[in-house]
Amino acid sequence: MNTIHTTLSFLFFFTFNFLDVFAVPNTHLCHPEQRSALFEFKKELEIKFSCKSYLTDDDSVGPYKTESWKNNTDCCYWDGITCNPRTGKVTEINLSSSCLYGRFHSNTLQNLAFLTILDLSYNELYGQIGSSVGELSHLISLDISYNQFSGQIPFSIGKLSNLNNLTLSGNKFSGQIPSSIGKLSNLTYLALSGNQFSGQIPYSIGNLSRLVGLHFSGNSFVGEIPFTFGRLNQLTSLLVGYNKLSGNFPIAILNLTNLSFLSLSYNQFTGTLPPNITSLSNLEYFHVRNNDFVGTLHSSLSPISSLANNHLGTLLLPSKLRGLSLGSNNFRGPVDFNIFSHLKSLQYLYLSYLNTTTKIDLTAISSLSKSLEALDLSGNHVFATNKKSSVSDPPLQLIIELSLRDCGITEFPEILRTRQNLEYLDISNNKIKGQVPAWLWTLPSLYNLDLSNNNFISFERPAIHGLSSPLQYFFGSKNNFTGNIPSLVCELRSLIILDLSVNDFNGSIPHCLENLKSNLSDLNLRHNHLSGGLPKGAFNSLRSLDVGHNQLVGKLPRSLMNCSSLEVLNVESNRINDVFPLWLSSLQNLQILILRSNEFHGQIHQASFRKLQIIDISYNQFSGTLPPDYFVGWSSMSSLGTNKDQSTEKYMGDQFDYYSIVLKNKGLEIEIVRILKVLAALDFSGNRFEGEIPDSISLLKELYSLIFSNNAFTGHIPSSMGNLTSLESLDVSQNKLSGEIPQELGTLSFLSYMNFSHNQLVGPVPGGTQFRTQRCSSFANNSGLFGPALDEACSNIHTPSQEQYETRDAKENEEEEEVFSWIAAAIGFGPGIAFGFTIGYILVSHKPEWFGSPFARNKRKSRITATR
Ligand SMILES: *[C@@H]1O[C@H](CO)[C@@H](O)[C@H](O)[C@H]1NC(C)=O
Ligand SMILES: *[C@@H]1O[C@H](CO)[C@@H](O)[C@H](O)[C@H]1NC(C)=O
Ligand SMILES: *[C@@H]1O[C@H](CO)[C@@H](O)[C@H](O)[C@H]1NC(C)=O
Ligand SMILES: *[C@@H]1O[C@H](CO)[C@@H](O)[C@H](O)[C@H]1NC(C)=O
Ligand SMILES: *[C@@H]1O[C@H](CO)[C@@H](O)[C@H](O)[C@H]1NC(C)=O
Ligand SMILES: *[C@@H]1O[C@H](CO)[C@@H](O)[C@H](O)[C@H]1NC(C)=O
Ligand SMILES: *[C@@H]1O[C@H](CO)[C@@H](O)[C@H](O)[C@H]1NC(C)=O
Ligand SMILES: *[C@@H]1O[C@H](CO)[C@@H](O)[C@H](O)[C@H]1NC(C)=O
Ligand SMILES: *[C@@H]1O[C@H](CO)[C@@H](O)[C@H](O)[C@H]1NC(C)=O
Ligand SMILES: *[C@@H]1O[C@H](CO)[C@@H](O)[C@H](O)[C@H]1NC(C)=O
Ligand SMILES: *[C@@H]1O[C@H](CO)[C@@H](O)[C@H](O)[C@H]1NC(C)=O
Repeated sequence: MNTIHTTLSFLFFFTFNFLDVFAVPNTHLCHPEQRSALFEFKKELEIKFSCKSYLTDDDSVGPYKTESWKNNTDCCYWDGITCNPRTGKVTEINLSSSCLYGRFHSNTLQNLAFLTILDLSYNELYGQIGSSVGELSHLISLDISYNQFSGQIPFSIGKLSNLNNLTLSGNKFSGQIPSSIGKLSNLTYLALSGNQFSGQIPYSIGNLSRLVGLHFSGNSFVGEIPFTFGRLNQLTSLLVGYNKLSGNFPIAILNLTNLSFLSLSYNQFTGTLPPNITSLSNLEYFHVRNNDFVGTLHSSLSPISSLANNHLGTLLLPSKLRGLSLGSNNFRGPVDFNIFSHLKSLQYLYLSYLNTTTKIDLTAISSLSKSLEALDLSGNHVFATNKKSSVSDPPLQLIIELSLRDCGITEFPEILRTRQNLEYLDISNNKIKGQVPAWLWTLPSLYNLDLSNNNFISFERPAIHGLSSPLQYFFGSKNNFTGNIPSLVCELRSLIILDLSVNDFNGSIPHCLENLKSNLSDLNLRHNHLSGGLPKGAFNSLRSLDVGHNQLVGKLPRSLMNCSSLEVLNVESNRINDVFPLWLSSLQNLQILILRSNEFHGQIHQASFRKLQIIDISYNQFSGTLPPDYFVGWSSMSSLGTNKDQSTEKYMGDQFDYYSIVLKNKGLEIEIVRILKVLAALDFSGNRFEGEIPDSISLLKELYSLIFSNNAFTGHIPSSMGNLTSLESLDVSQNKLSGEIPQELGTLSFLSYMNFSHNQLVGPVPGGTQFRTQRCSSFANNSGLFGPALDEACSNIHTPSQEQYETRDAKENEEEEEVFSWIAAAIGFGPGIAFGFTIGYILVSHKPEWFGSPFARNKRKSRITATR
C-alpha cells in the first residue's frame, strides 16, 4: 500500500516538474515581496469551510480561493490574483465570495501598491478602513460590499483619483461621508447602501460628473438632496430610499435626463410632485412611496380635475415607466386611472394607502397596461362587481401579484378565477364572508395566499379530487372558520407555511397533515378549540409549531425528536399532561420553548439547551429542586453573540421565497428583530419549585427577563445575579426567600421592573435609581425590608385606607399582567405574530431592497416585489 502511494506521488511529482519545465518558464512571474504580502494578508483570514457561495445557485460549497495560495507556486497564478505580465506586480485581487472570515487590516495591502482592482465582497470580514487606503493610488475599483466592516470612510479616500467604482454597500459603516469624496472625478459608480451613514449628503458629490449609479439607500442621511446633483447628467440610477431625507422634491434632478431609476421612498419629503417629471423622459422606475407628498392623482387635462377643484400638483408621468410606486403619501381627491393609460410598458403599480376617497372598481380598471404584472391597492376602498359583465377587454389579464389588503372588500373578486398567472394574492384584512372559493386551489401558479382577518366561515369543497395546487404559503388566521380542519388542506402538498390560528376550528388535528410532512416548515393552529392529541408524524422540515390556546390533551409526542429543524415549540394553554420533555434537548436548533399553562409535572432534570433563548414553563405542576449548576449548559442565553452569526449564516441565501411575505409583515419586523438579537427570557413561575435559586442563573448573561414568582424557593437570592447586566425585568415574588436583597442588584442599570413581594426578605433595599423608582408594592409583605430606597419608593403613599390599598393593588396587578404576558405577546399572543417571528428573522439575514442594484432581481422567485 505504502509503496504504491509513494510511486504515485513520485509520478505526480515528476509529471508536475516535467510540465513546469516545458510549459512555463522556470522563473516565477511573481515577485517574492508580492507573494509575502499576499501571505501576510492570507494569514489574517480564516476560511469558513462549508460556507455557500452567493455566486452559484446550487448548494455547492466554496470556492475557497485562498486555499490555492501555497509556497512554491507562482502567486500570479493563484486563484483570485492577477499580475502585470511585464512587471510581475499584483494588480488585481478578487476574493469575492470566498468564504473568508476575520479582521481585515487595510495596511496589509500597502506592499501591493500597484493594485487596480480589489474585490472582497460577500465575505465576513470586519474591521475599519484605515487612512492608509489612500496610498493605493492605482485603484480603479474597490468593492468590499456585504461584509461587516465598520467605522468611517477616511478622508484620504479622496486620494484615489483613478477610482471608477466604490462599493461599500451592506456593511456597518457610519458617520458622515467625507467631502473629499468629491475629488474622485473618475467615479462612475458609488454604492453606500445598507450602512449606518448619517449627516447630510455632501454637496461635493455634484462634482462627480461621470457618475452613472449612485446608491445611498438604507442609511440615516438627513437634510435635502444637494442641488449640485443637477450636474450629474450621466446618472442613470439614483437610489436614496429608506433614509431621513426631507425638503421638497429635489427639482435639480429633473435635469438628469439619463435617469432611469429614481427612488425617494421611505423618507420625509414634502410638497407636491412637480408637473414636469416628464422631462425625465428615460425614467423607467419611479418610487416615492412613504413620504409626505401631497397632491392629486389625476391630470389637469382630465375632467375629474375640474370637479376636484384642486390645483395642487396634478400628475404627469413619463411614458417609459415600467415601475411606479406612489403609495402612503397624502394624495387627496379621486384617483383617475387614466393618468396611467399612456404607460404602455407598466409592469408594476403600487398605490397602497393613498388617503383618497375614491372607490376603486377592480373589474373596471381598464386603462392600465395590458402587461401589468403587479398591483397593490391595499388600504384603499376597493370593490369588485361580480356580475357576469360583458366587458370586451377584461383588466389584469397577466396579473402575477395582487395586494388588496385592508380594502373593505365584502365579496371575493370572481374576476381572479381566470387569472392563470396569479402567484401572489393578499386579500387579508377585509370583510369577506362565506366560503373560500374552491377555484383558488385550481389556479395553476398561486403559491402565496393570504386570507387572514376576514369573516370566512368554511371552505367550499372542490369538485375534483387530487388537487395539484402549487400553494406554499397559506395564511387563514382570524376568520370565523368552524368545524373540523378540512382534509382539503392535506391535499395542498406544497405547503410550507400553514396558518389557521385564531378561528373556531374544533375536533382533532387531522392525521392527514402528515401528508405535508416533507415540506411543512411552520404550522400555526393556536387559538382554536382543537381537542385530542398532537400530531405524531415525523415532520422533518418543521421549524415552528404553535398549537397554543386549544384543548389538547395527552403527552408531547416523542416523534418531535425527529424534527431536527425545530426552532419554536409553543403548546401553551392546553391540557397536556406530561413530564418535563428533557428529550427536547436533543433538538439542536430549539430556540423557543413554551409549555406555559398545561399539566406538566415532576422534576425538571438537568439538561443542556444550547440554542434555547426563550423558555416559559410557567403555570404547570413542576416540582423539586434545581441543582446549583442547573443552567450550565444553556449556552445561547449566556451569549447570543455567536448564535446570531450562526442563524444569519443559516438563512442566508436559501429563503428567498419568503421575500414577499416579509414585506407584508412590515409592522412586526422591528420588534421581532429585537427579540432575536437581544432577547433571552426565562419564566418558571407558578410551579412548585423549592430549594434555592441555582447560582448558575448568573451565567445566563443575555437574560432580559427572569421570572421565578409563585413557587416555594427558599434561601437567599444569589448575589451573583448582579452579573445579569441585560436584565430589565425580575420577579421573585411569592416565594419563601429569606436574607437580604443582594446589594449587587442595585448596579443593574436596565432593571426597570422588579418584584420581591411576599417573601421573608430583610435588610436594606439596595440604592440606585432603579430601586428607588419601583412601586412600593414590589417590596410588600416581607419580614423586614427598610432603607432610604424603600422610603422613596413608598413615599407617595400617605397612610392610605385599606380600600385605597386594594384598588391600587388591583390596578397594579393589571399592569403586572401586562408586564408578565410579554413573552406570550412577543412570540405570538397576537395571531400571526408567531409567523412574523419566524419570518422576521429570516429578514434579519435577508438583504432588504436597498442592497445591491435594483435591477438585480432575486435569483429564485424573481418577483417585482423585491424592488418595491
Ligand atoms: C514559504 O517558504 C518560505 C521559505 O521557503 C518560508 O520562510 C515561509 O514560512 C513559507 N510560508 C508559508 C506560508 O508556508
Ligand atoms: C470578481 O470575480 C467574480 C466571480 O468570481 C466576478 O463576478 C466579479 O465581477 C469579479 N470582480 C471584479 C471587480 O472583476
Ligand atoms: C480618469 O480616467 C481617464 C481614462 O478614462 C484617465 O485618462 C484619467 O487620467 C483619469 N483621471 C484621473 C484624475 O485619474
Ligand atoms: C463598475 O461598476 C459597474 C456597475 O456595477 C460595472 O458594470 C463595471 O464593470 C465596474 N467596473 C469595474 C472596473 O469594476
Ligand atoms: C467641488 O464641489 C465643491 C462644492 O460644491 C466646490 O466648492 C468645488 O469647487 C468643486 N471642485 C471642483 C474641482 O469642481
Ligand atoms: C443641468 O445640466 C446642465 C448640463 O447638462 C448644466 O449645465 C446645468 O447647470 C444643470 N442644471 C442644474 C440646475 O444643475
Ligand atoms: C446620457 O445621455 C446622452 C445623450 O442623451 C448619451 O450620449 C449618454 O451616453 C448617456 N449617458 C449614459 C451613461 O447613458
Ligand atoms: C420643473 O418645474 C419646476 C416648478 O415646478 C421648475 O422650477 C423647474 O425649473 C422645472 N424644471 C424643468 C427642467 O423644466
Ligand atoms: C389622510 O387625510 C386626512 C384628511 O382627509 C388627514 O387628517 C390624515 O392625516 C391623512 N392621513 C395620512 C396618513 O396622511
Ligand atoms: C366572526 O368572529 C368575530 C370574532 O370572533 C365576531 O365578532 C364576528 O361577529 C364573527 N362574524 C361572523 C359573520 O360570524
Ligand atoms: C460575575 O462574573 C464574573 C466573570 O464574568 C466572575 O468573575 C464573578 O465572580 C461573578 N460575580 C459573581 C458575584 O458571581
